[in-house]
Amino acid sequence: MFSVQTYTERRNALKRSLGSGLVLILGNEESPMNYHDNTYRYRQDSNFLYFFGISHAGLSAIIDIDSGEEIIFGHEFTMDDIIWIGPQPTLAEQARKVGVYRTETPEKLPERLKKASKVHFTPPYRYDNMFKLSEWLNIPVAGLKENASVELIKAIVALRSIKTDEEIVQMENAVNITREMHITAMQLTKAGKKEYEIAAAIHAKALEGGGDLSYPIIFSINGQTLHNHYHGNTMTEGRLVINDSGAENAMFYAGDITRTIPVSKKFTEKQKEIYTIVLKMELAGIAALKPDIQYKKIHLLTNKILLEGLRDLGLLQGNIDEMLAEGVQGLFMPHGLGHAIGLDVHDMEDLGENYVGYREGLERSTQLGLKSLRLAKELEAGNVLTVEPGIYFIPELIDKWKAENKFTNFVNYSKLDAYRDFGGVRIEDNCLVTPTGCKVLGNPIPKTVEEVEALRG
Ligand code: GLY
Ligand code: MN
Ligand code: MN
Repeated sequence: MFSVQTYTERRNALKRSLGSGLVLILGNEESPMNYHDNTYRYRQDSNFLYFFGISHAGLSAIIDIDSGEEIIFGHEFTMDDIIWIGPQPTLAEQARKVGVYRTETPEKLPERLKKASKVHFTPPYRYDNMFKLSEWLNIPVAGLKENASVELIKAIVALRSIKTDEEIVQMENAVNITREMHITAMQLTKAGKKEYEIAAAIHAKALEGGGDLSYPIIFSINGQTLHNHYHGNTMTEGRLVINDSGAENAMFYAGDITRTIPVSKKFTEKQKEIYTIVLKMELAGIAALKPDIQYKKIHLLTNKILLEGLRDLGLLQGNIDEMLAEGVQGLFMPHGLGHAIGLDVHDMEDLGENYVGYREGLERSTQLGLKSLRLAKELEAGNVLTVEPGIYFIPELIDKWKAENKFTNFVNYSKLDAYRDFGGVRIEDNCLVTPTGCKVLGNPIPKTVEEVEALRG
């Protein structure tokens, strides 16, 4: 937990930003897997963690800006709880640690909300919180999102988008645990092993770091499937495997790193050619990070390197700027270059991607690739974000575009046949925007062809 001052100052900043009304921050409940008492790993809501720091189920909190009151609502643990889960500090004791000096039972919350002239709440993403809000505020579940407070969303995004030094310490810690996960994967990957054997070792490193995973592990020889959570394949000589995995540290900050590993100890020449283009994209993306630059421009700059690289290999032909404008790169990189990261791996996405990554006057494109760009707006010092270019050969997408005669003037489809079983390459790091440029968080994680091969024994 951070200091009392940290949480108090965060809430004071929110009050200054909103000026009036009652802010309601709902904590998360336990979430059942298959019956009530068999639950998923508990994860507190990130806004609750940010303003109130306490990580257990059954809590809600209000900040009444007009009266200045701050109250955490929750039940005290009973002897029945203590028998099952052990001795616990009282709610009042926990609340004091985050500078809140009033606690109430949850039954008191609805009447408090009824008396408020304006309740600011964020869009709920868990169904139990939707039902609670709907009942308390008398808003149909389907109408909650549109009734969420845009002022509150914008105020939280402004605060959480700028990471403080003590948050950066946590984020470096998350990346350093993630580094161990990736080095372990590079050392253990071997033809004949199952992907899940390596996924298990990756997960173990996250647990050893004192937290857990920040998102489900992507460890797959089918890296061309972007969010591939299947780990049942046997790794075979000559394949590439994408490892996109990250730790959530003990303070709930996320790491999100990707490395691509040759199952055989060395990359083949063909793999090296593609890998080298992706590495060039990543390094150029990182080098371009600085305050005021639009992240969309950096996305396009790396797309241009992709197009040039594939043209040099003979997979594409024609004018690079025309290809870029028409979106040819979507065939090979159908995702965005990166996203904000912090307490959430896709930071604050519960509040709405466009509030986090876009602004008025900067509309989201509908083009394949750009439409998945979660962060497009101008950067500021203190932002932490990912840079994660990739090149993928997705047979189904290639076949579709070919059948549609799409971009036949640019794409050399006959040459692409030789890449149908290539898979994909992605390289991802987590970067802090500084006043003069950027800092890649954490200790360096092997990334060049030579560095990766050196770890393959
Ligand atoms: N780990 C998912 C992503 O990179 O966005
Ligand atoms: Mn990732
Ligand atoms: Mn990412």
